[in-house]
Amino acid sequence: MSSRGRIVRGVLAPHPPHLVYAENPPQNEPRAECGWEELRWGYERLRHRLEGEEVDVLVVHSPHWKTSVAHHVLAVPHFESLSVDPIFPNLFRFHYSLDVDTELAGAILEEGQAAGLAMKSMENPDFRVDYGTITSCHLTRPAWDLPIVALSSNMAATYFSDEVAMEQQLALGRATARAVEATGRRAVLLASCSLSHRHFTEEPEIPEDMAFEHIYHHGQYLWDMRVLEHMRRGRTRELLADLPDFIEQSVSEVREGSLTWLLGALDLPDYPATVHAYGTVIGTGNAIVEWNPADREVRA
Ligand SMILES: [Fe+2]
Repeated sequence: MSSRGRIVRGVLAPHPPHLVYAENPPQNEPRAECGWEELRWGYERLRHRLEGEEVDVLVVHSPHWKTSVAHHVLAVPHFESLSVDPIFPNLFRFHYSLDVDTELAGAILEEGQAAGLAMKSMENPDFRVDYGTITSCHLTRPAWDLPIVALSSNMAATYFSDEVAMEQQLALGRATARAVEATGRRAVLLASCSLSHRHFTEEPEIPEDMAFEHIYHHGQYLWDMRVLEHMRRGRTRELLADLPDFIEQSVSEVREGSLTWLLGALDLPDYPATVHAYGTVIGTGNAIVEWNPADREVRA
């Protein structure tokens, strides 16, 4: 059993609620005409790529489940409730029902603790799952036919420095990979974050009016392109070296650690990633990027 455990794909899977809104799934109350097609079709390309793969579980790290003490892991078998985006309640009122792979969650907790990380399991059955987790999982797997494991963004070390926080997220990623292997799971890992994060301060009257949608500032765009080029070339060490400046200069949501966690879990990929789409949502830079660990073996 344990020999088959592996990370099937790692994905940068951003979570703007606008993308779910524009897809009009039955779980979401508001209705949209259209909008943000490039990013939504990017997710569609990702879903096609996953179609032939056997997958047991989605593991997601979300910037919108912030914890101040320890890395938390969802550890209740089932959650069901209404998720309302605090900024965009007009776009995202999503009725979710999801299962958690508690065995894998427990294994990640143990591996993290063994690596010296502060870890905690979330066992409150009334806990409201954050919209970042829900959105990334929905856009990757709208059928909701797989259990998930969700990890919080532990912000404690960021108060000291982004570099120290990144070290911790890399260690959490490595612990996640060990747990996936030990439990024999075939896992898809989702880093639920945007890239540059300067955004509009006023919403257009029609949210999906794409005449208003564009990058906020050319410097933000240049940063996003630099970061994506590192990913496309398999230059993970250069990418990691750039992240603290990227965070500071583009208010990037990678600060919350989801991308760093993913790169740690993928063992610092030196093979090219596939960028399925890049686009903005209220001016923030978002990309859907896929790493296939089998590419390392092909090159080896
Ligand atoms: Fe966000």
